Amino acid sequence: MTLSHTVRRAALALVTVAWLAGGAAAQEGPAFKEIMQGLAEDMNHLNAAIFAENFEAIERYASAIAHHPRPSPAERARLMEAVGPRVELFQSIDHSVHGGAGEMAEAAGVGDMDGVLRYHARVMQGCVACHAAFRDELMQPDTPKL
Ligand code: HEC
Repeated sequence: MTLSHTVRRAALALVTVAWLAGGAAAQEGPAFKEIMQGLAEDMNHLNAAIFAENFEAIERYASAIAHHPRPSPAERARLMEAVGPRVELFQSIDHSVHGGAGEMAEAAGVGDMDGVLRYHARVMQGCVACHAAFRDELMQPDTPKL
């Protein structure tokens, strides 16, 4: 193999690595809609766990909701632009859902069903309040009405 051959190969490898890294950085994190679909699934599992009084599973799903994946930076920018001046309302509902889910996981950890149900109500209210307040602004064109 000639020297120029080797250099060309090395350059090509570098370009490929840079391209992959750049692509990964831009795409890092799921789309908002995928996160929402994940939350809906977690809520379904959570409800089933409540009916079964399975505190271990309640704790697991509540904590998955509390620590759901963050959207990609591009997706966050899109969201913030769509939310505009109502960003505080958006964030306060978001915090209420995260906080409620965290508290629900803790209540499940100590077998406190009353606590689980109280925080479950807070989480549900947050999901629905945010949809009512923001879905029209934030819905992607291909999204059917909630
Ligand atoms: C802070 C605001 C906010 C909170 C909190 C929130 N959502 Fe959403 N959700 C949205 C918005 C905005 C959309 C529309 C997104 C789109 O179409 O791109 C949406 C869409 C959805 C969808 C429809 C996804 C699809 O396939 O089109 C589901 C299901 C959903 N949310 C479930 C939930 C659940 C369950 C919770 C609570 C655990 C929750 N959301 C909490 C803002 C929120």
